[in-house]
Amino acid sequence: MLEIRDVTMQFGGVRALDGVSLSIDGTGVYGLIGPNGAGKTTLLNILSGAYRATSGAIRFLGRDITRARAHRIAQAGIGRTYQNIRLFASNTVLENVTVAQNSLAAMGGLQSVFLPASARERALKEEARRLLDLMGLWGKRDYLSGALSYGEQRRLEIARACALRPRLLLLDEPAAGMNSTETDALWGRVEDLRRDGLCVLLVEHDMNLVMRRCDYVFVLNFGELIAAGSPAEIQGDKAVIEAYLGEEDD
Ligand SMILES: Nc1ncnc2c1ncn2[C@@H]1O[C@H](COP(=O)(O)OP(=O)(O)O)[C@@H](O)[C@H]1O
Ligand SMILES: [Mg+2]
Repeated sequence: MLEIRDVTMQFGGVRALDGVSLSIDGTGVYGLIGPNGAGKTTLLNILSGAYRATSGAIRFLGRDITRARAHRIAQAGIGRTYQNIRLFASNTVLENVTVAQNSLAAMGGLQSVFLPASARERALKEEARRLLDLMGLWGKRDYLSGALSYGEQRRLEIARACALRPRLLLLDEPAAGMNSTETDALWGRVEDLRRDGLCVLLVEHDMNLVMRRCDYVFVLNFGELIAAGSPAEIQGDKAVIEAYLGEEDD
């Protein structure tokens, strides 16, 4: 599904990514972990088209997206959420999803644009309901999104990202700042997405959390991929343990 080849990202004197190569086969939940500043968000920014890699190549579903713009990448099927919440706070929960649907339609990415307007609207509304249901938010569809709890806002971001019908969903520290109840609720929803057939690439700072929830894990440290494997393999990996120990010394 996704193939990243030798990707380097240079910000002035900082090499945020250094020859990273990895691939994702299209099912399951993949973890992307590493200490602060390892380059995790930078990799998501490149995958989603927010940044362009200094060098290297990226293929997604057989297409070269290395130099594609963000809206093309969204259209091609990569969705994302951000480390900092970016919702329309003065719009309702439902509107946050329908705005995303409309932007997809505007990009020409909705087959249902060929339906009569009324049927199209019904189909979109049903899909919005399904997504909000999936994230446990249908009951709050008429709330202003700014009035939701922090954990709910995080889930709404995921529902909104899913309105763009991604095949691969990039989540940047979705559980950051959540309490353990909210985190558990979120992970349950991520499980549901996986069962829905979506592939998830999850950036998370907390190694233990990722170990319990991911099928496969990539580890970045100072911009380099230092390990990739099953959670059990990663947990016993010397370079990974050292990277995280080094961090506690900071
Ligand atoms: N837009 C940018 N301009 C300059 N430096 C950046 C930019 N984005 C990230 N960096 C730098 O790249 C490195 C990796 O950052 P980041 O990808 O945010 O790490 P992580 O998400 O793993 O904590 C850091 O040194 C950071 O300061
Ligand atoms: Mg980050």
